[in-house]
Amino acid sequence: MKNILILSSKNGSNFEAIIKYFKNRNDINFKLLTDNKDAYVIKRAKKLAIEYICLNKEEIKEFFLKNKFDFVVMAGFFKILDKETIETNTFINIHPSLLPKYKGLNAIEYAYVNNDTKTGITIHYANEYVDEGEIIFQKELKINPDWSLRKLEKEIHKLEHYYYPRIIEKLLGLNVLVVGGGAREHVIAQKIKESNLLDTLYLADCNDGFSSLGNKIEYTDYKNLALQAQKRNISLVVIGSEEYLANGLVDILNKYKIKTIGPDKNFAKLESSKLFAKKIMAKYSIKTAPYKKITSINKIDKYLSYFKNPIIKANGLAKGKGVYLSEDISSLKKELVYFLNGKYGISSKTTLIEERLYGEEISLFSFWDGESLLHFPLCRDFKQNEKGENTGGLASICPIELDYMTNEKLNIYKEKLLKLLKKEKIKTPFIVYSGLIIARDDIYVLEYNVRLGDPEAQSLLNYIQNDWLEVFYMCSIKALSSIQLKEGKKPITTIVMTSKGYPNEIKKGVEIKNIVPLNNKTKIYFSNIIVSDGKILSNGGRVLSVTSDNRSDIYKTLNDIEFNEKEYKILDS
Ligand code: GRF
Repeated sequence: MKNILILSSKNGSNFEAIIKYFKNRNDINFKLLTDNKDAYVIKRAKKLAIEYICLNKEEIKEFFLKNKFDFVVMAGFFKILDKETIETNTFINIHPSLLPKYKGLNAIEYAYVNNDTKTGITIHYANEYVDEGEIIFQKELKINPDWSLRKLEKEIHKLEHYYYPRIIEKLLGLNVLVVGGGAREHVIAQKIKESNLLDTLYLADCNDGFSSLGNKIEYTDYKNLALQAQKRNISLVVIGSEEYLANGLVDILNKYKIKTIGPDKNFAKLESSKLFAKKIMAKYSIKTAPYKKITSINKIDKYLSYFKNPIIKANGLAKGKGVYLSEDISSLKKELVYFLNGKYGISSKTTLIEERLYGEEISLFSFWDGESLLHFPLCRDFKQNEKGENTGGLASICPIELDYMTNEKLNIYKEKLLKLLKKEKIKTPFIVYSGLIIARDDIYVLEYNVRLGDPEAQSLLNYIQNDWLEVFYMCSIKALSSIQLKEGKKPITTIVMTSKGYPNEIKKGVEIKNIVPLNNKTKIYFSNIIVSDGKILSNGGRVLSVTSDNRSDIYKTLNDIEFNEKEYKILDS
């Protein structure tokens, strides 16, 4: 149980917002302390059935010398507490300005009468001075010149009521659920595990290679998963793979007011329907290859004739394998027949024929929090195997540097993407994964995904030095603008170990021995393994990945692994 004391002297709208926000939590005890027996906040406390006490100045000091709380939350408390009192507990305060500007009373009015163009709110640790102490969080508010003072006050309070509970939640320690069972989810879980902001980590659908990182949750359906998350006071659900998104997990979590990062089922179509993506790109003049939709085998010859170098792409999800490239038109036709006959089920019964674009491919990951977009350093993934077949991804590197001119083109693309998200009024936070190609004349979008890539996540999450739980959480509460990215010093590479034959038929259940990272800078992330009778057995095409800033360490680690079905890509440089 966590104990929080809220201090309020008067109105108490922040008090009420906090209590209501945490109403489903069964692990927090709230109490109110006021110094004013006529305060309106007492009425609120009675209505919300929250225990309260009313004390005078001397009694307050004595009270704190005797009582210890996890946090003391000041919300419109007008008494100054001396050093001795403040040092008894951790006090936090909210102030309606961007501190250090306008300390003390009437901060909103000052911003208004001074015709400031912006103001905001500050949440900070409190000390014995008025509105001073280490800043925890600030949120800016642009002041519309047409606003009345009343309207400005309303907008400030709206921000306070939204952010204060969510920042308190972060300070209390977060219970987090990671959903998914690949190497991407392994690295996500590992990074979250390392965060100081974490209370308890939960895992759903994890593989045996990283199940020891957290407490496993078994579930029957998404509603059941949401209910279990609620019962365990989970603050954030991080979803790894696209299937959950396309199947509407986010919609269900939203219904139960559980924070997550991912588009709702409707906007997840950006990834799960190539046609949807093409249409939206056309609307915002985002460059992409010309295409034609095909559903009937009879139209193959006619449609292929429209293109100089055609390729085919399944309209729906196919685990990264739904693209077929070949310069030999007869094998392309043959594959197109397989696609239309349902090689990837319903996903390929509608297929796109596209003009092939040539150039270097890059992946841009951008976090969208409903208001602002945070772009990460570029990554590259290596999708094709030796035979030229598309796979889910065999290697990745982060970062990739661009020359000045290409970077300028990328910036133009980033502006268009921001416009798309704002104009389409996408309110749910999610990760935009732009699969880009640098063609001779410009940057084109090959495809969109709506989550992190695998194996790009393994490289990106190790290259960026921020607290990743903070990045995910702040994204989920519309607070990304407070994140400053900290880049690593050396590029990171990831190489995937696969079972022979991948992406086609592979053997499962083959024992793997000697999985030992060469040193503590080399990380191993598991994708498809099971542990049975103490033995580690392969359980799919991509088995594990090895990540490091030193490629020869990666290859030494892979070399030492004993696995009869072992295959991996060798990167040239
Ligand atoms: C808030 O504006 C807060 O920032 C300031 O006092 C006000 C309290 O409002 N410290 P309420 O009592 O929570 O309605």
